[in-house]
Amino acid sequence: MKIAVLGYGTVGSGVVEILDRNAKTIASRVGEEIEVKYILDLKDFPGTPIEHKIVHDINTIIEDEEVKIVVEVMGGVDVPYKFVKAALLAGKSAVTSNKALVAAKGEELLDIATKNNISFLFEASVGGGIPIIRPLNQALTADEFVEINGILNGTTNFILSKMTDEGSDFDAVLREAQSLGYAERDPSADVEGYDACRKIAILSSIAFGKTLNYEDIKTVGITKVSAVDIAYAKSLGKKIKLLASAKSVSDKVFAMVAPFMISSEHPLYNIDGVTNAVHVNGNMVGDVIFTGPGAGKLPTASAVVSDVIEITKTGGNIPSNWKAGKLELIDCSDFECQFFVRVKKEEVSIEEINSLFGDVNTLTLEDYADTEFAFFTKEIKEGEFAEKYSKLKGAISSIRVGR
Ligand code: HSE
Repeated sequence: MKIAVLGYGTVGSGVVEILDRNAKTIASRVGEEIEVKYILDLKDFPGTPIEHKIVHDINTIIEDEEVKIVVEVMGGVDVPYKFVKAALLAGKSAVTSNKALVAAKGEELLDIATKNNISFLFEASVGGGIPIIRPLNQALTADEFVEINGILNGTTNFILSKMTDEGSDFDAVLREAQSLGYAERDPSADVEGYDACRKIAILSSIAFGKTLNYEDIKTVGITKVSAVDIAYAKSLGKKIKLLASAKSVSDKVFAMVAPFMISSEHPLYNIDGVTNAVHVNGNMVGDVIFTGPGAGKLPTASAVVSDVIEITKTGGNIPSNWKAGKLELIDCSDFECQFFVRVKKEEVSIEEINSLFGDVNTLTLEDYADTEFAFFTKEIKEGEFAEKYSKLKGAISSIRVGR
C-alpha cells in the first residue's frame, strides 16, 4: 500500500513516525507494508530522512496511480477541501484529522467516496486518539443513539481543571496554558467553544444519521467562568465543565456547547486536565464512555494511521452512518435545565427572586457573603430563564446545571 501525506506538521510527522516505528506489527496485521510515497509540504526538510519524499505539487500525488490513500493533516478548510475532493474524485481514499473540514464538508466528501467505492475516514477529527467514530459506525450498530455528551476540548478542560485545583482566574490560567503550549496564541477556537461545536456536530451526524450544521449549534465558551463560580461549585462538591451535548428527541436533535456545573454522579465528572471523553447513551446498550488523549502528535496520528490500516485491510467503501440530508435542530430556548445564579446582595431581595423564579434554594460562601449570594432555579426552559434573568436585579452570573 502506497500512501501520501499532505502536511508534515505535528500530526503529519507523527503519522510517518508511527508507520516507521510500528511497521512490522502494522504489516502483520494488514498483510502488507504501508509505505509513505509522498509528503506534500511547502518546506523542503533538507538533510532529513523524508527529504526525498517531499513534493510541492498536489498533482504529482493525484496523478500517481500507485497512491491509493491520501492523508490530509494540513489544517484549514479551503485548500484541504480542494485536495481531498481531488483525491477522492481520482479514486483514492482519503483520511483526515481535520474537524473543520469534516464538519463543513463531511456530507459531500462521504458521498463522493461512496459513489467511487472508496473511503473517507476521519477517526482523528474528534477526540484525538480516542476511538469514537469507528465505535459509533461499526460497533454500536444495534442501538439507536439517545444522547451524546462530550468533553471534547482538552485546552478548556485543562483550564477549568487548573482553575478548580488552584482557585485561579480564567485569564491567569489561560496565559499559563499558552506558555505550556496547551493553548494557542489565538485561543478563541478553543475557549469560545467553536472546536467542541464542530466535534459534537460530527458525532451527531454519525449517531443520528444526517448532517448537523455546526453553525446552528448554540455555543457558549468558558471565558465568562470565574474563580468565584468555581468556588461555589467546589463548596458543593461539583465541577464546572465545558460539555458538548446532543440528544435525540422524536426525530429531531437538540445540541449545545456550554459550561455546565456537574455533580460527582455525572459520567464525565472525573475527566480532568487535557483528557477528552465521550459519553454515549444507546437505547439498548445503555451508557458507554470513551476516554483518552484528545490531542497531541502521536495519539492523533495513531487514530489517523488506524484509518489508513482499516482502508488497507478492507478496501472499497467503508460505509458511514452519516447520510445525506440535514438533521432538524430543536430550538434551544425549549431546552430545560436548572440554573445556578449569583446575585449582588445589596441589589435584590429573596422575595424578588422568589417572585421571578418560584421558591429557590439560596447559598452563601463565607468569603463572599458580605457582597453576594447564589441560588438554584428549578428546571426551567432556556428561553424562559433568559427572559427572567434579564429582569433580575443585581445578577452577576448564571451557569447551567448538568443532570
Ligand atoms: N485544540 C484542540 C483541543 C486540539 O484543545 O482539544 C484537538 O482538536
